[in-house]
Amino acid sequence: MNSLPIGTPRPRRLRTTASMRRLVAETRLHPANLVLPMFVKEGLSEPKPIASMPGVVQHTLASLADAIGDATHAGVGGVMLFGIPAHRDATGTAGDAPDGILQQALTVARETVDKAATGLTRPVVMTDTCLDEFTDHGHCGVLTADGRVDNDATLERYASMAVAQARAGAEVVGPSGMMDGQVGAIRAALDEAGFTDTAILAYAVKYASALFGPFREAVDSTLKGDRRTYQMDPANGREGLREVDLDLAEGADMVMVKPAGSYLDVLAAVADRSDVPVAAYQVSGEYAMVEAAAANGWIDRKAAVLETVLGIRRAGADIVLTYWATEIAHWIN
Ligand code: PBG
Repeated sequence: MNSLPIGTPRPRRLRTTASMRRLVAETRLHPANLVLPMFVKEGLSEPKPIASMPGVVQHTLASLADAIGDATHAGVGGVMLFGIPAHRDATGTAGDAPDGILQQALTVARETVDKAATGLTRPVVMTDTCLDEFTDHGHCGVLTADGRVDNDATLERYASMAVAQARAGAEVVGPSGMMDGQVGAIRAALDEAGFTDTAILAYAVKYASALFGPFREAVDSTLKGDRRTYQMDPANGREGLREVDLDLAEGADMVMVKPAGSYLDVLAAVADRSDVPVAAYQVSGEYAMVEAAAANGWIDRKAAVLETVLGIRRAGADIVLTYWATEIAHWIN
């Protein structure tokens, strides 16, 4: 018997079967939208697990190639490489050395995807363009004599790094240091060196987040203190739109919001405003929280992983950087 009046709208009608729900889903995950961040450490003889990120490792060049092969097979859209050098110094010279670990990794990555490519389907090779893995003090820039991060001196280092990365095989460089003018400085240097086709994925809206905690272990970070003079205050949303506008004016090809899950309002506003593709980075702490809860049997791991990434897509991200990229891609396939 019907107890609601005849003709009453019933939204549940479209939820009655799995087939119906699949038909009307507004957002879908596709392997091509996922980017896998990866760590490569100089001098390792075998991959080293990262305790706070179960399932993620610091790679050797050989294990990097294997993992990129898997990601390619799964149809992942891109890989984002981070390097951990054997030696660090005040200006991060390993960051732009032609034989620096990140440059070596980029060359291996390009060889791997070019070899593994079936038709056009292979991950785009991207890299982090930042000094914090390469400096002995762990800051994202070089320091002044009295210990402050020197914005304009840092730009020269980023420009040199981006050119070294492009030369080594990077198709996309990702300035993540939140220095003012970093996108413009890198674009000018790339163009001048002839790398007009190398794209810039600007970490436009990056917060000084506690959720980067596990990443610090992943890159053996030496940082003391915090990054609050360059990364954004988590209290601010409108300021993020200003950062996006500036990066677009400087020539960013894509813009990113990071972290993702705690900043979905900002992500939605950026997606609304931007005419270029928008990425969001589901960071190490977001990964670790789900893994830890799942390991305790407190949540359904697979369902939670898919829901967190779907939520980021629904909020407006075209591209999601996630440490689960390959695994999710396999599930989708
Ligand atoms: C800086 C950088 C960081 C992350 C990506 N690039 C760390 C930081 O800003 O402290 C964090 C990524 C993550 O937590 O997964 N090069």
